[in-house]
Amino acid sequence: MKVQVDRRDGLTVAADAVVCGVFERSEKDDSFPRGLAREDEATKGLVRAAWEKREIRGKSKELTVFHRPDRRSRIVLIGLGLRAKFGPDTVRRAAASVVRGLRAKGVRTLAFRLPSFVADLTPAESAARALTDGAVLGAYEFVKYKTTTEGTVEEVSIQLGEELARDEAGLKKAVAEEISIADTVVWTRDIANLPADTATPERLAEEARALGKELGLKVTVFDEQKLAEMHCGGLLAVGGGSVHPPRLIVVEYSGGSKRGRTVAVVGKGITFDSGGISIKPALNMAHMKFDKSGAVAVLGILRAAATLKVPPRVIGVLCCAENLPGGSAYRPGDVVKAFGGKTIEVLNTDAEGRVVLADGLAYAVQQYRPDEVIDLATLTGAEVVALGDDTAGMVATDDRLAEGLLAAAATTGEPLWRMPLTDYHRELVKSDLGDVKNSTEIPTAGMLTAAAFLEAFVGNTPWAHLDIAGPAYTSLTTYKYQPSYQNLGATAFGVRLVSRYLMDLGRP
Ligand code: BES
Ligand code: MN
Ligand code: ZN
Repeated sequence: MKVQVDRRDGLTVAADAVVCGVFERSEKDDSFPRGLAREDEATKGLVRAAWEKREIRGKSKELTVFHRPDRRSRIVLIGLGLRAKFGPDTVRRAAASVVRGLRAKGVRTLAFRLPSFVADLTPAESAARALTDGAVLGAYEFVKYKTTTEGTVEEVSIQLGEELARDEAGLKKAVAEEISIADTVVWTRDIANLPADTATPERLAEEARALGKELGLKVTVFDEQKLAEMHCGGLLAVGGGSVHPPRLIVVEYSGGSKRGRTVAVVGKGITFDSGGISIKPALNMAHMKFDKSGAVAVLGILRAAATLKVPPRVIGVLCCAENLPGGSAYRPGDVVKAFGGKTIEVLNTDAEGRVVLADGLAYAVQQYRPDEVIDLATLTGAEVVALGDDTAGMVATDDRLAEGLLAAAATTGEPLWRMPLTDYHRELVKSDLGDVKNSTEIPTAGMLTAAAFLEAFVGNTPWAHLDIAGPAYTSLTTYKYQPSYQNLGATAFGVRLVSRYLMDLGRP
């Protein structure tokens, strides 16, 4: 999709539809909104008539379509809900609803009237960014395997009008930045949605190599022989049951500022999680192709970091393996040695994410001595139970890092909630046979015992763990409740959030 900023008023341009936001009408002030005066004029009074007949209520997702008597274009009103609840996420959702609602009605070009999406706490720049994200992400569909599609909105313009035309330069810059992030989210979703027969660990390595070539990033891929030499017992154990061997993939972006920090971003890349010998039930097992979402998000984060030239140096580490049962699969009772020498007692082969992350985290910390480590992983069902399908759970050992990520979550609208990590959880993962065990006999606080396990491989480096099991993808049962900018399947959760964090890191 093409997005551009145009200084003219929306009603003067040629587009299939011109879109204006309208707040939910309140009992107190039910008079015709001043902001709709020009729409009313262009429709020769139809908008006011619809208002008076209470056809326009301004509820979120409400679309009201008018045809201009001169047939130049359609005029579309999108409900924004209550003014008191308005913010950038309202705008993001509204733009996505418009794109989704109109694409089946033959609309290919859209013009948003920016002033109608600006309010006290949402300045023009935030609104323009949110319109960009919402339109691009709302239009997204995974169409690789479809032979026919409805078509989609192809061009969006953000119209400034007299009120905002003087901010044109700044808004153009902000929108250009946001386009590049949204394009990366689309790119990430396209990889994360690939089924496991296609998106093997080696295929993810190929994606990383291609990205490295395109953006000038150093990419190193460790195959199963190399992993054996490096004593990456976690990846080898988890990947043992599959004919598609494991890969540890490292992507390096050298940083936009000389004395910047080094941030390692580590992702769980299980291309399919059957559970292994501790096999999962059949219901929803197909969702487990999304168990690579953390690693694919890391690839997206590196793409965004390099494109936007963020200040810190960023090291992406993707821990990729396929978890299948079979004659060479690892089994409950095995003890495996991770990179760096710590031993893991395997009690449940379905707790495989932490086993591959053990190698990746230990490698990142030992090899690069980063100032901080962030990991993203679809790690536990317990996270989904605790926080639901839209929110990621965070465990962090450093308050500055945690607060930075929470701030980025608030601006990007990717919900994040911090959870505690205590000595109790650390106690629960101690092993009688080795250093740590991958599953506990007490099944409570599953997200937190998983984090306690990971911490053993990070050591003292400031660290934030993002368990994205809930928000990484939507399913047929959950996606209709989600904002319109999350389509069915992979969401690429974490890409906008961590990219924003990295952009703001080391800036005054
Ligand atoms: N990939 C799953 C976690 C998951 C569940 C992700 C639902 C997305 C949606 C993970 O590997 C897993 O199976 N975790 C187990 C751990 C348990 C065996 C200790 C779980 O959460 O049940
Ligand atoms: Mn599992
Ligand atoms: Zn898993």
